[in-house]
Amino acid sequence: MSISNRMLQSIERGSWIRRMFEQGRRLKVQHGADKVFDFSLGNPDLDPPAEVLAVLAEEAARTGHMIHSYMPNAGLQEAREAVAAGYNRRLGLDLVPDDVVMTSGAAGAMNITLKALLEPGDEVIGFVPYFAEYTFYVDNHAGTFVPVPTDATFLPDLPALEAALTPRTKAVIVNSPNNPTGRLYPAALLEGLAAVLTRASARFGHPIYLISDEPYRALVYDGLPCPSPIAFYPDTLVASSHSKDFSLAGERIGHLVISPRCAARAQVRQGTIFANRILGFVNANALMQRVVARTAGLDLAVDPALYQRRRDRLSDALHAMGYRFQKPEGAFYLFPRSPLPDETRFCDLLLEELIIAVPGSGFGLPGFFRLSYAVEDAVIDSALPGFERAARRAGILA
Ligand SMILES: Cc1ncc(COP(=O)(O)O)c(C=O)c1O
Repeated sequence: MSISNRMLQSIERGSWIRRMFEQGRRLKVQHGADKVFDFSLGNPDLDPPAEVLAVLAEEAARTGHMIHSYMPNAGLQEAREAVAAGYNRRLGLDLVPDDVVMTSGAAGAMNITLKALLEPGDEVIGFVPYFAEYTFYVDNHAGTFVPVPTDATFLPDLPALEAALTPRTKAVIVNSPNNPTGRLYPAALLEGLAAVLTRASARFGHPIYLISDEPYRALVYDGLPCPSPIAFYPDTLVASSHSKDFSLAGERIGHLVISPRCAARAQVRQGTIFANRILGFVNANALMQRVVARTAGLDLAVDPALYQRRRDRLSDALHAMGYRFQKPEGAFYLFPRSPLPDETRFCDLLLEELIIAVPGSGFGLPGFFRLSYAVEDAVIDSALPGFERAARRAGILA
């Protein structure tokens, strides 16, 4: 055996993604890619904002001595200034550039944070259903992922959180707007969460960090507010990116924001910057940092109304067929209850209709399935008859 048992186990745990991928590919080869309705990928398909593309073109054309050289591990000063300015304007904070570390996406920000924080065996809490990669990110840094339930509307269950906290709890991950549920966490919930963590930090004699994973922050519908935990809890670390707001997921540019009220602010900064270096990221993409330096402070984003229209198209039609779900308030996912108790069987029924969905067990919550509506209107429209036949076969539609 040439790779580690730990890695073999991770591959096995993540194998449902590969299976889906392979099933999808097989179907596309068999029936033609345009006949298969792939709702499985969280890959933003809107064009980036024109202003961002214009800056990117200018920056790519720039020449100069060492323009493509290594950068400071923390990132370009101008990029960190622009990110800090964006948060300060939006949330009325007082971040300085040193509170920002430029990263390779929100995923890079989560990994440098966990690398900096965790002792082996430390516990990191996440709420069910969760972005599956959290379990692997925590495992990357020798931590233990602890799943905690949400309520019937997918908001974190605070009494359950309180019961799950132990002296080994180092961090709690929250994600609003949420993947896979599309839920936004309201201010009252964040206040309650902050109170629970403040009490527990005092009881255990060390801070419990709140890691707020916010890559979907700009994708919010119906003008709803999307408060950030950083405004509620001092030991908050925000992981975010331009994967979704700028539709630049493949360019791998994001940031970590360390709350100015975080007690160990300087250490967390040093630790995460060093982690950027030794995890092999070295520095976030240099060209994209120059783009961020000129765009992050400007409130640019793809138009969420475009995703909102798709949400309405898909959710109105599915609701009329008898599917039941919490209507998404942000991000671009719908997380309906499976009409069959075993959601993998229902996903197989959908596959027979050439519709690819992700079973809820992949997010720690069997009995549901996830649809990404980062797909064109035509894909939604063409898939609806298949959803309807599957609803009939599953018995929710007469
Ligand atoms: C909840 C969540 N967190 C983090 C990420 C990673 O995003 P990024 O591309 O910024 O690394 C994703 C990507 O889909 C996500 O859905």
